[in-house]
Amino acid sequence: MTERVLSGIQPTHDSFHLGNYLGALRQWVELQSTHDTYYCIVDLHALTVEVDPALLRKRILASAAQLLAIGIDPKKSTLFIQSHVPAHNQLGWVFECITGFGEANRMTQFKDKSQKSGTDRTVVGLFTYPMLQAADILLYQPELVPVGEDQRQHIELTRDLAQRFNSRFGEVFTVPGAHILKSTAKIMDLQEPTSKMSKSATSLAGVIELLDTPEANVKKIKSAVTDTGRDVTFDEANKPGISNLLSICSAISGRTVASIEADYVGKGYGDFKKDVAEIVTETLRPIREAALGYLHDEQALLDILSEGAQRAEAVASKTLSIVYKSLGLLPRS
Ligand code: AMP
Ligand code: TRP
Repeated sequence: MTERVLSGIQPTHDSFHLGNYLGALRQWVELQSTHDTYYCIVDLHALTVEVDPALLRKRILASAAQLLAIGIDPKKSTLFIQSHVPAHNQLGWVFECITGFGEANRMTQFKDKSQKSGTDRTVVGLFTYPMLQAADILLYQPELVPVGEDQRQHIELTRDLAQRFNSRFGEVFTVPGAHILKSTAKIMDLQEPTSKMSKSATSLAGVIELLDTPEANVKKIKSAVTDTGRDVTFDEANKPGISNLLSICSAISGRTVASIEADYVGKGYGDFKKDVAEIVTETLRPIREAALGYLHDEQALLDILSEGAQRAEAVASKTLSIVYKSLGLLPRS
């Protein structure tokens, strides 16, 4: 039987960035031809940060448009919005009831985010976020979850919860594995190449956005922070800036880092950056244009998402009813 895949992305910003694209989304597209793929815009997860309703609505639509634009094909994949399938919250609650407080407290993403905003401004939803994520995944019984490196710990927790449930209440869940591509698992910020490229960076100067104009992205790449020295060589410890650009260039072109390095022997950073800018903008240009096109027809987007929700719901409600039964909850007669 074809293996199943599930992944999710938060609609928390106006545009996805190159880290999302190379770290996760490109794998989503590739897996469509070999796997039974479920992709979810996790709007409920986006409620853990401050909500501006008009903006959130716009960002959910922009997320769907970008996913279609990169090549997610609604005929091959089930593309849907998390809040359209209530079983996510229902199973999330079950997982909250089998997760230890200390276990949840060890999640580094929670620790980082709550430390940044302080206890008074940290919501409980941020703490229980990984259990909702486990529900997103396990409802669909996938074998694989394609994500970037920052999600490894959440997938580990998901595996633990699946195994715990199975051993206490009977074999219900497939235990999924993370699908993380080593070379692109962590794309770095162009201005701060020791931090990951992130939508929540204080400045967007080092973040390449899929919906940015080509001109803006050329400017960002040309002003990327590079390191002292002149040679275009991969050395993450001493040359994080150049190494990051080499990883980006290699991921997009499909060439090895070594063969790219060979092209720049005797040349400088300037030539290299110019070429990286070109290959990145030529890759993103058609994606941006397609996304803007999809955004022109909101009804067509809503129709695709509605059909996706229907397909997702059929799978999710089946899993949920097995879970409830295994727990001893009585079915409504
Ligand atoms: P998020 O925007 O946090 O919902 O992340 C969406 C997906 O992109 C997840 O699978 C992340 O692991 C991945 N991702 C986010 N930032 C990066 C990055 N800088 N490099 C590689 N993957 C990333
Ligand atoms: N926590 C993930 C992130 O920040 C988003 C996410 C939510 C997710 N549910 C998921 C990713 C299920 C994979 C599978 O990127």
